[in-house]
Amino acid sequence: MTKYILSTIAWVESIAKKEVGKQWGKIVEVRDRMIEFEGDSKTMIRVNLWSRVGNKVYQVLAEDKNIDNFDKLYDLVQKIDFKKYFHHDYPIIVKVKSINSKLDSTPAIQKIVKKSIIDKITDKSWKKVIENRDLEKFEIMVLLIDDKVKILLNTTWEALHKRGYRDETWEAPIKESLAATLVLLSGWRFKETFYDVFCWSWTIAIEAAMIAKNIAPGLDRYFVFENLILVDKKIVEEELKLAKSKTFDWNYKIIVSDIDSEILQIAKQNAKNAWVDDIIRFEQKDFKEYLKENLAWTLVSNPPYWERLKVEFLDELYEDIDKLFKQNKNLNWWIITSYFEWFDKIINLKNYKKRKLYNWWEKTYFYKKVS
Ligand SMILES: C[S@@+](CC[C@H](N)C(=O)[O-])C[C@H]1O[C@@H](n2cnc3c(N)ncnc32)[C@H](O)[C@@H]1O
Repeated sequence: MTKYILSTIAWVESIAKKEVGKQWGKIVEVRDRMIEFEGDSKTMIRVNLWSRVGNKVYQVLAEDKNIDNFDKLYDLVQKIDFKKYFHHDYPIIVKVKSINSKLDSTPAIQKIVKKSIIDKITDKSWKKVIENRDLEKFEIMVLLIDDKVKILLNTTWEALHKRGYRDETWEAPIKESLAATLVLLSGWRFKETFYDVFCWSWTIAIEAAMIAKNIAPGLDRYFVFENLILVDKKIVEEELKLAKSKTFDWNYKIIVSDIDSEILQIAKQNAKNAWVDDIIRFEQKDFKEYLKENLAWTLVSNPPYWERLKVEFLDELYEDIDKLFKQNKNLNWWIITSYFEWFDKIINLKNYKKRKLYNWWEKTYFYKKVS
């Protein structure tokens, strides 16, 4: 059994833990933004392919406590048999996270760890190290908490929220992993209509559609594990094939609307790239029009909060949101916003449940209407 860590965004650890368990990972410890688990390389590949809310999957290469000086850190890295993991010409980058530990200078830790890695891999059998810059990089993460250190190998590369379907040249306010979190927390039953009435890039709807169709979020991207020596290429192929076979189709109804259609073609293309364009329908519509309707769906939305919008306009819009929910008792209704100070003032807090979440570095609340 090998030890791994799935890192996550804040406040979603309970969902990430379930995701690991589903892929047969044996949970060792859950702590702030980290799920430590045991498994084999198949488990690691599956968590990478299937985690919707996670950040990166790391393999634990070495760990020890009381690492309070650079000699101890150097010696710990020397114990790792890097040849088992990658060929000597791969470029290596070292990242550091130090919390409440004596060793806390990132550049100094990076320097000593890189030196120890190079010393270790320049033995006779590996000849001299010449990093081939054309190859994908390997990332070693040094995690120090209370002088306990873990030397980790990133098996994911770019964070898991980069599914590969989104046109990155356009700003999209919500991260894919957060959008998936919202859908999972909403308890949407796939046979009901799902709605996002402030949809912009369609990210919430695309994630909802991928969840409904059981599309593995990592099917269309590069992972470092594809280049790891100790991972059998055959297993990678089998796991990808297996993940593809889990997708299924049904007549889902996902409706998105927005007052603005500027980004529409990009959003449609994003949905196409994610293989879900066939089940998402767009309407250009002012949210206020829904005040005239009787709604009975699951609604997950991210209303505007941008500073470029006038405050009076925003205040009125949030009053209308509250009005809509008051008049629609059958609506399973959720919104995420960083405009919570005003919203808290105008709603009756007893009628709502709130959950703190971070969108990138911004504090937001996810509100659910409960009565
Ligand atoms: C925070 S953004 C939504 C971002 C979206 N979740 C995403 O990830 O792309 C808010 C959206 O609300 C839209 N909007 C603003 N006022 C509106 C209104 N009265 N009715 C409908 N949409 C509106 C804006 O055009 C914007 O696209």
